[in-house]
Amino acid sequence: MNPPPIADLTDVSFTYEDGTRALDGVSLRIKSGERIGLIGENGAGKSTLCKHLNGLFHPAKGKVLIDGEDVAKSKASHLARTVGYLFQNPDHQIFKSTVYDEVAFGPKNIGLRDNEVADRVERYLELTGLSDLAKSPPLMLSFGLRRMVTIASVLSMEQRLIILDEPTAWLDYGQAVLAKEAIRGRLASGAAMILVTHDLQLVAEMADRVVIMSGGRVVADGDAKKILSDPDILMKYGLDPPPLTKLANELLSEEAASEIFAVADFINAVKKKKWKASK
Ligand SMILES: Nc1ncnc2c1ncn2[C@@H]1O[C@H](COP(=O)(O)OP(=O)(O)O)[C@@H](O)[C@H]1O
Ligand SMILES: [Mg+2]
Repeated sequence: MNPPPIADLTDVSFTYEDGTRALDGVSLRIKSGERIGLIGENGAGKSTLCKHLNGLFHPAKGKVLIDGEDVAKSKASHLARTVGYLFQNPDHQIFKSTVYDEVAFGPKNIGLRDNEVADRVERYLELTGLSDLAKSPPLMLSFGLRRMVTIASVLSMEQRLIILDEPTAWLDYGQAVLAKEAIRGRLASGAAMILVTHDLQLVAEMADRVVIMSGGRVVADGDAKKILSDPDILMKYGLDPPPLTKLANELLSEEAASEIFAVADFINAVKKKKWKASK
């Protein structure tokens, strides 16, 4: 028998108390290990959707299953073993008085033994470049470092589905490189990811499937390379294609553009001299 999808939403609708309809019949199935870039304009419903996956919200209509279990019937503590959520604003997540305790909180809470907790904390502090700050109060750190603390906290729980809301926004270059490497480590161990971001270059680097939301609905869902190299569909939903894709579309062919997601790809294509002008 196939394992159940890690997340399975069927016809999910949700309306806020003030009457704002934020989700309107969303169906989405996420298989174990899938890497999804969830994109769409502000207000499209991305965060509301994510909050249904960790049990923060329950659907007014429809069903959400995590690893085959109905979220409406699961305990938050049980869900927390499977689903990790990096909030867009780190200050909504941080509440301990040292970086060490902040990162230790999750692994402790899911019932790991003390030595395992210590191993996890040390490993993820190192991966996020925070080892020297273990004793610092997180709220005294810069925004970028506070963001790194929350990344370490979420990844250290090693859940099978990680939801990341703008994980690299406001990080400096070095921090972003570390954050991406740490996230990739979890993905390499088979974790599934939902990456919510406005940075389509980041989506190109990290995701294999792209879901576009607009007005509370899923309006496109498919192969990341196909969708990211299609400026028409991106612009239709108010999204800016990755800079390299734009450049490749202008200077090379549409076909070449569909294969270019990193500077190295672009250089290779140029070396092969697929210039439009020379055709
Ligand atoms: N707490 C809230 N109360 C009322 N409306 C909300 C609340 N949070 C979000 N919304 C509305 O729900 C819709 C979806 O918002 P959201 O899920 O935050 O979108 P996104 O994450 O894609 O920007 C928007 O119209 C937004 O204004
Ligand atoms: Mg949001």
